[in-house]
Amino acid sequence: MKIQPSSKMSIFTPAIFGDLKAAAEKKKAAGHPVVDLSLGSPDLPPDVKVRQALSEQSALASSYGYTLGGIKRFNEAVANYYKRRSNVVLDPETEVLQTMGSQEGLVHLPFAFCDEGDIVLNTNPAYVAYDAGIKLAGAVPYDMPLLAENGFLPDLDAIPAEIAEKAKLLILNLPGNPVPAMPTPEFFEKVVAFARKYNIPVLHDAAYSEYYFTGDAPISFLSTPGAKEVGMEINSLSKSFSLAGARIAYIVGNAEMLAILRKLKSNLDYGIFAPIQEAAAVALDNAEEITDRLREEFSVRHRVLMEGLDELGWSATPSQGGMFVWAKYPSDMNDIDFVFKAIEEAGVVMVPGSIFGSAGAGYVRIALVQKPELLKQAINQLKELTY
Ligand SMILES: Cc1ncc(COP(=O)(O)O)c(C=O)c1O
Repeated sequence: MKIQPSSKMSIFTPAIFGDLKAAAEKKKAAGHPVVDLSLGSPDLPPDVKVRQALSEQSALASSYGYTLGGIKRFNEAVANYYKRRSNVVLDPETEVLQTMGSQEGLVHLPFAFCDEGDIVLNTNPAYVAYDAGIKLAGAVPYDMPLLAENGFLPDLDAIPAEIAEKAKLLILNLPGNPVPAMPTPEFFEKVVAFARKYNIPVLHDAAYSEYYFTGDAPISFLSTPGAKEVGMEINSLSKSFSLAGARIAYIVGNAEMLAILRKLKSNLDYGIFAPIQEAAAVALDNAEEITDRLREEFSVRHRVLMEGLDELGWSATPSQGGMFVWAKYPSDMNDIDFVFKAIEEAGVVMVPGSIFGSAGAGYVRIALVQKPELLKQAINQLKELTY
């Protein structure tokens, strides 16, 4: 039998992570210590209250049915969290929608809003799932470059009117992956005005909303006047609550937009395991305490890494939040070659910036996923690099 993938499968280029892992294994096998700063997978354990709730709920025989649109308790916990954190009022029934991790929501959302050939405004660089969703829906990404001279925020004024008029979705991510720029009220106000002018639904991905180092929390897009009229915010419990494997996230905002997505999702899945929703509700109810501990640790990691990179003579983008450091290394070598060289010579694993888009060329993304001691060790190992 001849097995033929659909033409859509060509959208997915082979991920580099397997090759990075193989190179790291080789270095380790040669007896050299390896520090892996590639994947943005949280290394802190989930809070004990959250794990307890999951285990108690899982023990109940009544916990194993389909949850369809989800349990009320979770949606209410999301609404309460938004009210406490951002003073945003949400109707738990119509303005909150669960997704099976934000990846699921992000990849499916363009199907709900785009027809074949429609334009989606996406940043370059950007988290790779956006592009996958856009292309699977048959839509076409229009790149908004994130440039140092614009504080790594997209320049909406640079988008030609004829492109904006055809756009069916605008995707943003602040603090971002891979570029940890922070949202400002002025920028979000501009986004709302732009979305209104051109009638474009906005999706803001706030996956790293609890990662900040200065005391000033990144603002929610929905706290911007008029934002609920034009858009949605997606957030995940993966990063802020170390629940990546539990696959639970949510989209909040415009009820009409969420109704469209809910209709799509009712044809795709039958809801998240109820104990996971219960445990996630416990996490959200205790968000302040849980995320304070996270910030305490990540602020130290961020400082240690930034100081170390400075010592190495690398130019790291200053940032006040996010889970990643976005850095320019002092060499003209292309970022893919450079990353493999860093593994071979120094045993430090980073991600080349260009896998997130052409504007990422010459940069590396460094995830703050190791303890400060290991970050210091990584800096010392990077001193072995020849340029
Ligand atoms: C910006 C951003 N959004 C969404 C996700 C997906 O997270 P999850 O599907 O675990 O919610 C990630 C994961 O790395 C991410 O970096």
